[in-house]
Amino acid sequence: MDMDKQRILIVGGGSGMGLALARCCLEKGATVIIAGRGEAKLDVARGELGRPAALETAAVDISREAEVAALFQRTGELDHIVSTAAAIEGAYRLLPEIELEAAQRVVESKFYGPLLLAKHGAPKLSAKGSLTFVSGIAAYRPAARGSVAAAVNAALEGLVRALAVELAPIRVNAVSPGWVDTPIWELVAGDRKAQTLAAMAERLPAGRVGRPEDIADAISFLMGNGFTTGETLHVEGGHRLV
Ligand SMILES: NC(=O)c1ccc[n+]([C@@H]2O[C@H](COP(=O)([O-])OP(=O)(O)OC[C@H]3O[C@@H](n4cnc5c(N)ncnc54)[C@H](OP(=O)(O)O)[C@@H]3O)[C@@H](O)[C@H]2O)c1
Repeated sequence: MDMDKQRILIVGGGSGMGLALARCCLEKGATVIIAGRGEAKLDVARGELGRPAALETAAVDISREAEVAALFQRTGELDHIVSTAAAIEGAYRLLPEIELEAAQRVVESKFYGPLLLAKHGAPKLSAKGSLTFVSGIAAYRPAARGSVAAAVNAALEGLVRALAVELAPIRVNAVSPGWVDTPIWELVAGDRKAQTLAAMAERLPAGRVGRPEDIADAISFLMGNGFTTGETLHVEGGHRLV
């Protein structure tokens, strides 16, 4: 996809898949705005990306409508909006330990956040623009401790199909990743991250877990393919087959 002169907002762009996508879009000539709750993380990301002139940062909590509305006042017109945001702290628990507030933060970041980005961001997009969100394998291969993740990913995919109809011709899609080596696993597995991911790799037909770049590549495809909307693209190394 030629991204020359394109202006792309990536919420979650301070780490993991969003950061990989930011790098990919910058390399293809786009102007990129990375957004997340904390300016400090965004500044570290800016350093990792080499502080290019075509990179902007924006602090925003997408679970807060006033902040989302203010964000789009600052961004101006956009070509594409992406969110990889997820606040999963404390949410991967067995039912007796689940705290409602942690579950609510997941739903706010992965469901209401995308809803608000669509509400306030769609008016900033051209007819050729797109919105892309990130669901996940938990909706298809749920595991113990993953009930909240499973539910919110499924809900997000339903939202994507509905928004694709309501916002047409703007396209709205999701990428559903499998296990991908990103900082999120430090929250889920703690100091067992490396061995957890190594064990997972052995179970997958692809023989490895995902890299953030695998997901960035898929989001880039969805942004550029003008005949794909309402779709969930599974990028998970064959996980649903096993
Ligand atoms: N990694 C995997 O194996 C995997 C598997 C399936 C699905 N997923 C999904 O893939 C997506 C990307 O995850 P990742 O692995 O790249 O994780 P990550 O590195 O933790 O990235 C998530 C980003 O979301 C931002 N964020 C969280 N809550 C936010 C909010 N309310 N408003 C704005 N930004 C917010 C975080 O920045 P701040 O903390 O600075 O706000 C962070 O940069 C998530 O939706 C995740 O659920 C991941």
